[in-house]
Amino acid sequence: MKRKEFLQSLLGSSALLSIPKGSSNFSSVELSEAITAQSKYTNGSMYGYSGEPIPKVKVGIIGLGNRGQTLIQMFTWLVQKGHAEIRAICDIQDVKIQKAKESIATFQSNKPQIYTGNLESWKKLAAQDDLDLILIAAPWRYHAPMSIYGMQQGKHVASEVPIAYSLEECWQIVEVAENTRRHCIMIENCCYNGEELFVLNMIEQGVFGDVTHAEGAYLHDLRALLLDDDYYQGQWRIQHHVTRDGNFYTTHGLGPIAFYLGIGRGDAFTHLTSMSSREHNLSHAARQVDFPQQSFKCGDMNNTLMKTHKGKTVLLQFDVHTGRPYSRINKVVGTKAVHDGYPSRLYIEGDKPEFWGHKWLDQDNYTSYRKQYEHPIYKKLKKLSQEFKQGHGGMDFVMIYRLIRCLNLGLPLDINVYDGVLWSAVTPLSEISVASQSMSVPVPDFTGGKWKEKEGLEIMREIG
Ligand SMILES: NC(=O)c1ccc[n+]([C@@H]2O[C@H](COP(=O)([O-])OP(=O)(O)OC[C@H]3O[C@@H](n4cnc5c(N)ncnc54)[C@H](O)[C@@H]3O)[C@@H](O)[C@H]2O)c1
Repeated sequence: MKRKEFLQSLLGSSALLSIPKGSSNFSSVELSEAITAQSKYTNGSMYGYSGEPIPKVKVGIIGLGNRGQTLIQMFTWLVQKGHAEIRAICDIQDVKIQKAKESIATFQSNKPQIYTGNLESWKKLAAQDDLDLILIAAPWRYHAPMSIYGMQQGKHVASEVPIAYSLEECWQIVEVAENTRRHCIMIENCCYNGEELFVLNMIEQGVFGDVTHAEGAYLHDLRALLLDDDYYQGQWRIQHHVTRDGNFYTTHGLGPIAFYLGIGRGDAFTHLTSMSSREHNLSHAARQVDFPQQSFKCGDMNNTLMKTHKGKTVLLQFDVHTGRPYSRINKVVGTKAVHDGYPSRLYIEGDKPEFWGHKWLDQDNYTSYRKQYEHPIYKKLKKLSQEFKQGHGGMDFVMIYRLIRCLNLGLPLDINVYDGVLWSAVTPLSEISVASQSMSVPVPDFTGGKWKEKEGLEIMREIG
């Protein structure tokens, strides 16, 4: 693809209006202007937004594949308690609809309305009058259009990750949320994992002193699933690896880190630079199983480095091609403590030179920190979430519980629209940097300058 077409696909044609027609050579200044051009259209007015309380949240779910089926199970307790009801479901595959119907029937007596038949049936679900919330677990290319259309139909929307993968879509989502005054949450479940919440609580309680650096990642050997004929419907996921190169799955690592660093709440990212390694492992695996596509643009390992206004740095890695144990790294470096994940380890700085050291806390000391700083929402929901183990060890339940209960009580959601689009926007920005010899690219401000106000984190708030 020519450079201008490539940039157009990520930024949108309106962002490139200032570039002379036919030109394929952009200066870095022109590129920076194009990346930030649309910031004048957003105003940050969805900070702190809370709609009217909704005593029973009527939910419609689009996309009933691997993820959609898990999310349905997370509603069991909420439906039984009368906090929510699944009123509509949509998928293009009959088999997925049947499975979802059977699963819902195990905990809800009312049958949901079914939408299926073609690729646009979801629009009818979005228009169903009595729905309050649309949950989206479809392939990536649908997340932004479904979120935008859903809000335009007057519904709150919750999209799986990433909520968008072009900057143009990110700007559109913010504009529509601000204009329609609807919640638009990207449901980033890793923000609700016990380890991440424990680290966040320690940071909030001052255990880390001042945080200077964090590292996160999505290191997950997906080769077998990407190359499987049936796992991802129509093999949608591997197609991204054929034509694109960058950090495609930013939000599992970046979401928790953004909370650690107060991003959008007193600090913001300024710029990033990104570099991908050569591709080897996925094409090797594809040859082993005679997969029809055997060459891939996406490098095996992407490294994206980001900096904030207050001088903090973040390393974000992405590798789903290489055989290795799963990790999101979850490293935080502060002036008084350091945490490293997989497995979780903690270093606490001694108060005298003789106590400065090179060692992680021993098991007993680690356990006592873990007990002392367990996050209140995790402490409260631990027992309940253990009943829903299939939801990634409990974090999926905590996430859906928080979403529904905030809507019940008319409270702002834990993850606002600006968080979701920012964490997702790192993907197209990384692609631009990778394609431009790792050129530094600015990270746009989606908040209309509201990030400068130091606000508390909603995820630290206890609710009923
Ligand atoms: N947060 C997490 O931990 C997590 C885990 C897995 C997947 N995900 C996300 O969930 C999403 C879905 O992933 P998956 O693994 O379930 O994929 P999948 O292919 O199993 O499921 C997608 C479903 O969407 C349906 N679909 C496709 N086009 C549609 C349309 N036009 N209208 C209605 N339905 C349509 C498919 O038939 C399929 O059932 C992805 O965005 C993925 O990133 C998140």
